[in-house]
Amino acid sequence: MGNIQTYIAENKERFLNELLDLLKIPSVSADPKFRDDVFEAAEFVKQKLVEAGADNVEVCSTKGYPIVYGEKIVDPALPTVLVYGHYDVQPADPYELWDSPPFEPVIKDDVIYARGACDDKGQFYMHIKAFEYMMQNGGVPCNVKFMIEGEEEVGSDNLGTFVESHTEKLACDVVLISDTSMIANDIPSITTGLRGLSYVEVEVIGPNRDLHSGVYGGTVANPINVLSKMIASMHDHDGKITIPGFYEDVEEISSEQRAEMAKAPFDKEAYKKDLEVDALLGETGYTPNERTSIRPTLDVNGMWGGYIGEGAKTVLPSKAFAKISMRLVPNQDSETITKLFQEHFESIAPKSVKIKVTPHHGGEPAVTPTDSIAYQAASKAYETSFGTKPIPTRDGGSIPIVALFKKVLEVDTILMGFGLDSDAIHSPNEHYGLFNFYKGIETIPYFYEEYSKMMK
Ligand code: BES
Ligand code: MN
Ligand code: MN
Repeated sequence: MGNIQTYIAENKERFLNELLDLLKIPSVSADPKFRDDVFEAAEFVKQKLVEAGADNVEVCSTKGYPIVYGEKIVDPALPTVLVYGHYDVQPADPYELWDSPPFEPVIKDDVIYARGACDDKGQFYMHIKAFEYMMQNGGVPCNVKFMIEGEEEVGSDNLGTFVESHTEKLACDVVLISDTSMIANDIPSITTGLRGLSYVEVEVIGPNRDLHSGVYGGTVANPINVLSKMIASMHDHDGKITIPGFYEDVEEISSEQRAEMAKAPFDKEAYKKDLEVDALLGETGYTPNERTSIRPTLDVNGMWGGYIGEGAKTVLPSKAFAKISMRLVPNQDSETITKLFQEHFESIAPKSVKIKVTPHHGGEPAVTPTDSIAYQAASKAYETSFGTKPIPTRDGGSIPIVALFKKVLEVDTILMGFGLDSDAIHSPNEHYGLFNFYKGIETIPYFYEEYSKMMK
C-alpha cells in the first residue's frame, strides 16, 4: 500500500471541497420541505462512491428516502466489511442561533461549521475517501459494502425492512460506523455501547375550550399544571425514574467494570464550563459518565400549550403537550418501556383530565465486545494513527440499526466515531474539526489492513 498520510496531504483540499459541497445540500429528513434536497444528497453520495471505485452502485428506493448501496467484492472468500452511515441531517432550527447559515459551510480556526458537519456527513464521507485511497493504492484488502441511508434522524423506518429483505446482499463479517464521538483529540476512544430509545408524545386534555383564567381558574383542572406535576413526579429525590418496573431489566454493571470505566479521563470542570452550568444533576450514586452511558434516563424534549405570544393573556388552556424521550440500556426493551410509560402515565392522571399517549420511533440498546478480531484491529489502527491506544467507552446516543444488524445479520458493529461531544450535533453551530476529518481518513485504511491480516 502507498502511504495514506501522503495521499491525504496531496488531496486534502479536494477532500474538503467535496465534503463542503455535500454539506451545502440541506438534506433534512424530518421536514418535507427539503424532500428534493434529501434525494439530491443520495445522488451525490452515489456519484462519489462511483468515482471512488465502488461497483454496482445504486440508489435503492424505499417507501421513504433512498438507501445508497455500493460494493467492491475482491474475492468472496475474503471477509467483508459493511460500512453504514447516514446522509440525512437534523433540522437546523432555530436558524437565528447560528453564527453562519447552517447550509453555507464555513471554516474557522480549522473547524467546519455546518449542519451535518459531524453528524454524519463529515464522518461517513471519511470512509469514501479512505476507500478511494485504498482503490488507488493496490485495492482493498477485503470486500467492502457501503450502505448510506437517508432516514436515520427520523428513526430509520424503512431501513429495517431493507436489511431484512436483503440479507444476502448485505451479508458481512463486521459493520463499520463512524457516527459517534471520542473522548478528546489526544485521547482517542472506540464506542462499545449505545443506548436505546423510547419516544412518546403526550397530550393532557382539560376543558373543551380555552377559558378565562379568572372566571374559571381554581375549579377547573389546568392541563399544563397537571402535566407539569405528572412529569415532575416521574423522578424521585435521587433522580431515579418512578415508573414501576422501569429498572426491572437494567443490566447491573459489576464494580470491576465500573472501575475500568472510571479510568477514562473526564474533566468535570471543563465539562461544566463548556455548558456554562454551575453544577451537574442526575441519578445519585453514579458518575456523570455513567449517567450518560450505562444508566437509563427520562427527559422532556419539548412542552407546550396555552398562550406563549407577546405580553400576558389570562387564559386557562384547554390542552397541554409534551414530547418525552427515554434512553435505554441493556437489557431494556423499547416496546416494553413504552408500554410501562403509557400505563403509568394513565394511572397517575387525575380524573379531571383526559390523556393521550402516542408512541414514536424507538430503538434497542447495543454493546460490542472488545475481545473480537474487529475490535482489536480497530484498536491497533487507532494506535497507529494517534500514537496511543484507544479507550473503550459507552456512548449515550442511539443508533437503533446497530441492534438490528446484530439480530438480522448476526454481526457486531465497530463504532469508530471521530467526533467530539462538544461538536454541537443537533444544535446550532454544529461543527467538525479538520483534524478529526483527516485523522478519520487516515485511521480507516489501517483498520482494513489490520483486520484483513488478523482474519487470515
Ligand atoms: N449519530 C447520532 C447518535 C450518536 C451521537 C451516538 C453521538 C453516540 C454519540 C445519531 O444520528 C442520532 O442522533 N440518533 C438519534 C436517534 C434516532 C432514532 C433519531 C439520537 O440519539 O437521538
Ligand atoms: Mn448520526
Ligand atoms: Mn443525529
